[in-house]
Amino acid sequence: VDGPQHIAIVMDGNGRWAKKRLLPRNMGHKQGVEALRRTVEGCIAFKVKYLSVYVFSTENWKRPAEEVGFLMALLKDLIKKEVQKLHKQAVKVRFLGDLTALDVDINEGISWAEDLTQSNTALQLNLMVNYGSKMELVKAAKQLQDSNQPISEEALSGALFTAGIPDPDILIRTGGDHRLSNFLLWQAAYSELFFLDMLWPDFTQDTLKNVIDAFHKRERRFGGLNG
Ligand code: FPP
Repeated sequence: VDGPQHIAIVMDGNGRWAKKRLLPRNMGHKQGVEALRRTVEGCIAFKVKYLSVYVFSTENWKRPAEEVGFLMALLKDLIKKEVQKLHKQAVKVRFLGDLTALDVDINEGISWAEDLTQSNTALQLNLMVNYGSKMELVKAAKQLQDSNQPISEEALSGALFTAGIPDPDILIRTGGDHRLSNFLLWQAAYSELFFLDMLWPDFTQDTLKNVIDAFHKRERRFGGLNG
């Protein structure tokens, strides 16, 4: 059986992880970055080709300014401190979402990181920032309309941030909630969904391996019949 090519993750539960330890929520986000690093390494080891993670949604601006500021600082930090390491591991880094709303210096960091890593082939890491599926679909529809392109599944797929990337085989959400929260609604049409009760900072390479093993036991029919 072919391994999963593309895994997508809603990394939920950082705040609760911190709260359980009587720590500020932001410490949970910091640990969330560690879990992400473990997951990247796990994906390389298991020969997954694409990893897409929900870093910041179009709805996350509603959080207190202090937390939004911390997440943006963490993103800046990740670009400064982690991208070199990712580059050494041959990871190609992409940032998908409406980046126009982000600070100039973050945008500069993003361009630098994407340019530096663009030819890497071990794993493509898609960091979904200021991303939301509905916004993405509306933007894609407008793009087709403005260029007078006929509407088709291929044309619409090609106008999404994820153009050219195969749809996720697996979509994981940690944190115990059973919903997609506006993440990859179109792309996840046939993804195998895994809702885990564990909080994101507790996610390990063993967890990843268990999900991949369970994926291989599921039967994917894509609307057809068996065999
Ligand atoms: C959900 O936990 C997590 C987020 C909104 C942010 C995801 C970010 C990371 C995993 C860290 C990587 C981040 C950057 C910026 C590089 P939550 O805060 O909703 O947790 P809760 O549901 O327990 O409150």
